[in-house]
Amino acid sequence: MSEPSNSTTHFGYKSVPAEQKVAMVADVFHSVAAKYDIMNDVMSMGIHRLWKRFAIDCSGVRPGQQVLDLAGGTGDIAALFSKRVGANGKVILADINESMLNVGRDKLRDLGLINNIEFVQANAEALPFADNSFDIISIGFGLRNVTDKDAALRSMFRVLKPGGRLLVLEFSKPTHDWLSKAYDLYSFRLLPFMGQLIANDKESYQYLAESIRMHPDQETLKQMMAAAGFAEVSYYNMTGGIVALHRGYKF
Ligand SMILES: C[S@@+](CC[C@H](N)C(=O)[O-])C[C@H]1O[C@@H](n2cnc3c(N)ncnc32)[C@H](O)[C@@H]1O
Repeated sequence: MSEPSNSTTHFGYKSVPAEQKVAMVADVFHSVAAKYDIMNDVMSMGIHRLWKRFAIDCSGVRPGQQVLDLAGGTGDIAALFSKRVGANGKVILADINESMLNVGRDKLRDLGLINNIEFVQANAEALPFADNSFDIISIGFGLRNVTDKDAALRSMFRVLKPGGRLLVLEFSKPTHDWLSKAYDLYSFRLLPFMGQLIANDKESYQYLAESIRMHPDQETLKQMMAAAGFAEVSYYNMTGGIVALHRGYKF
């Protein structure tokens, strides 16, 4: 994967001025927000629920803890954390996109889960929280969309408490060639078609497929987390590496 020059970045396969990417990503998530949950279930045949559940199980979360679910979108991960931290804990669902936050807030309210959840509109690159605020930070399928991923990882490190852990759940690189080929076929033929059919939006799902291919692979992300300060970084491949969960600690 070749990196674009300083003033440009990737938006899927396109090279765009860095300052335009935020607006382009915002357009994608404003467009898909209302159909985001149903598309997730259809595209992954429900498997995204297992990936998210596994991430929570690896978080070591305990009652009473403070959790930041970054790029939390429609709130699946925040909902799981909310049940685990209980009435004495708190979950902050932070996302840059108002449409995704609105869908998330409505959904969690309907589930009766907002007593210990706060919603904050924020950019992962410059988190509006004090140093050492959270026991756990999660970012699920969000880092891929962030323009300056290193800045975002440094920002997460800053707001994590010493002893806290970061979980990055993200699409990654399949571990077998045959799976890569089948996955490419699925992503570039079927996915945009399903996006058109269900969400009336082919382009956003074409971006999804491309952004996954441009995202750093397992080892590269591990190095990026270490460079941001995280210790004992490790990762677990799921579904043959289609998704990976990276975990790192702040000591
Ligand atoms: C694919 S969704 C993931 C939502 C949720 N975490 C999940 O797993 O279902 C990606 C989310 O990242 C958010 N996002 C993109 N760039 C961001 C940024 N720079 N800071 C915070 N959130 C961002 C988007 O608005 C969107 O809600």
